[in-house]
Amino acid sequence: MDNKIDQIKKKIKCFHMKTYDDLETFRIKFLGKKRGIITILFKELKKISIHKRKIYGKIINELKKEVQEKILSFQSKNNIQNEKILKYDPTIPGKSIEIGSIHPLSMIKNRMIDIFLRIGFIYVDGPEIEDDWHNFTALNIPISHPSRDMQDTFFLCKNPEILLRTHTSSVQIRYMKRHHPPFRVLSVGKVYRNETISSRSNFIFHQAEGFYIDKKVSFSDLKQTIHYLITSLFGKAKIRFRPSYFPFTEPSAEVDIYCNSEWLEIMGCGMIDPKVLKNVDIDPEIYSGFAFGVGIERLALMIYQMKDIRIYFDNDIRFLRQFKSEF
Ligand code: DAH
Repeated sequence: MDNKIDQIKKKIKCFHMKTYDDLETFRIKFLGKKRGIITILFKELKKISIHKRKIYGKIINELKKEVQEKILSFQSKNNIQNEKILKYDPTIPGKSIEIGSIHPLSMIKNRMIDIFLRIGFIYVDGPEIEDDWHNFTALNIPISHPSRDMQDTFFLCKNPEILLRTHTSSVQIRYMKRHHPPFRVLSVGKVYRNETISSRSNFIFHQAEGFYIDKKVSFSDLKQTIHYLITSLFGKAKIRFRPSYFPFTEPSAEVDIYCNSEWLEIMGCGMIDPKVLKNVDIDPEIYSGFAFGVGIERLALMIYQMKDIRIYFDNDIRFLRQFKSEF
């Protein structure tokens, strides 16, 4: 028996495998159910005395282990070096993949959408590449208007009519042109401006735009809606409406929120100017509406207590990982 075992040990060691077929031959040769060398050894065990059976049982089990280890090591090596050699085995447990997280700006976008869907708004997207009419002229910002300076953007050299939108207000025009009131719409997306990058500004940022047109929509509807948005995002918060000017709303206001002992401006809003309604063939004698625009990065700075908006564009995995628990 001892001799036999030594010979088998040598055979296991010397068996050279290159392909998957070699591996199969090796497995069958030693562990095959009927004629495998080790299987037969186990069968022979039954014929010897109990005392010897214990000793040899242990030795044969070790041989079996050697065969199995050789199979495993071949498999793991070739799994990496040559996938073709191994056949697909659905019983091997899969490796776990690390799941990423939703970007904090996308989280706020999703929250905004949730908040507005609850009060009957629909969500629409608009193009980031716009034309002059939708971005400026139809919103009552003619070519010579000084507010064009504040919203300088990126134009196509070959066709200055085409530009990267400076605000999501262009979506108002696109939607109103194609639909009849009443409607309540929210849109969120990227906007572009010719700005120097700093802790507070960037040439690319995100805005949410909301607008509601119906018969007899009033400024108090606007105030209620803004109040609902702010309390949904921040809980109980002190806000104020400050008179302001936008070419596409009349009257216009800016909304400030009281945060850490100071007032912070968070959005612009107002009643849609009758001239804008006329530009999209809506009769201002019958319909009225309000609109508002809010910067997502600005909300994010407050919600997440950050001081520098560049962090949202850096793609620093250490920063982004912190938001994993939030969804
Ligand atoms: N479009 C404006 C901006 O980017 C923000 C804004 C102000 C949007 C008032 C509105 C509004 O819809 O009514 O500065």
